[in-house]
Amino acid sequence: MRIDKIVVPRWFDRHLHIRDGEMMKTVLPCTLNQRATGAIIMPNLADPITSIEKAKAYRERIIHVRDSYNMDLEGPFGVPVLRDFVPCMTCYLTDNTDPEEVVRGFEEGAWRAVKLYMANQKGQGGTTGSAHGVRNLLGRYPVFEAMEKHKIPLLGHFEAVEEDVDEFDREIVSVERDLKPILKSFPGLPVVFEHLTDGRAADFVAHCGCCDEHARLFATVTAHHLMINRNAMFWGGMNPGHYCKPVPKRETHRAKVRQYVTSGNRRFGAGTDSAPHDESVKSRCYGCAAGIFTAPTAVELYTTVFDEDDALEHLGPFLSENFLALYGMDVSSETMTIERTPMRTQEKIGNVQVFKGGTELPWKLVG
Ligand code: DOR
Ligand code: ZN
Repeated sequence: MRIDKIVVPRWFDRHLHIRDGEMMKTVLPCTLNQRATGAIIMPNLADPITSIEKAKAYRERIIHVRDSYNMDLEGPFGVPVLRDFVPCMTCYLTDNTDPEEVVRGFEEGAWRAVKLYMANQKGQGGTTGSAHGVRNLLGRYPVFEAMEKHKIPLLGHFEAVEEDVDEFDREIVSVERDLKPILKSFPGLPVVFEHLTDGRAADFVAHCGCCDEHARLFATVTAHHLMINRNAMFWGGMNPGHYCKPVPKRETHRAKVRQYVTSGNRRFGAGTDSAPHDESVKSRCYGCAAGIFTAPTAVELYTTVFDEDDALEHLGPFLSENFLALYGMDVSSETMTIERTPMRTQEKIGNVQVFKGGTELPWKLVG
């Protein structure tokens, strides 16, 4: 039966970059207009969020921008801007992070989770803003121990960062070398595998642990990784608009990840990893920044994926329910409505190219 309208609880973005300053003012309204109840805010600013003080100040700046929009006005995408958006802050883990500060920040509500980026011995990170990341993972075990005790989630960018690891194997190498030992050493530590792209990693997440009740390993999946494979990076020549980290993988991996997601596996949830970069930085010949900006149409993109797979019944849990409690969020009692109405997407928001910008999507978030 053809479904033309879906009503689901308002959703939650489990992985979002909103940057700071002018860029934040440009991109935050996109997520507000998408009716998110909140988002896990990534801490990889130029000056990363490594302390309670920085997390509190960043949160204040976000709330200030959020509240500066006039609620009575329609937002730029036709639905009113929402002021109840909850910015859920994260702590950027470094080799120097103190376990006590992690726990104190969690107890004071400065952050709800810890984000793990890794850097190699030369101090090169695997992605934007990760150069301050962890070089010595074993050295972080005391922090993981404290997090396990207090049930503080670890949000991991699991990609090997050594130069000699093949770009397309970074994720699975990290599963074997980094993730498995962490899970074994800290059986009570909740872990979210961020922006999962590799079919082998998806198999691992889906089958890890004994039963769903005891599950404590989950994964966020982006809309773009569900829609494009690695060929997209080369459409029409080198295509920086489709370059992100982890890099999109070969088709078999995309299909495998997508199958877990649209079959309704509860360990997978929406995290856009919407990562805006000014066009001048994205179009650099040498050193193009990684990141795809999906915030303006995230709900419509995910809906399109579930619809294509005849799986709209699983859209609501993926967007709005799966493992939200891990972040201290409830399933929203308010709903949002998505209709089968063609919608032309904006090409750019400010100077940021929008994923699939200028094309038509078959669904529209209407309220
Ligand atoms: O593509 C990405 N962009 N992946 C990340 O992990 C970071 C992000 C960013 O901050 O731009
Ligand atoms: Zn990210």
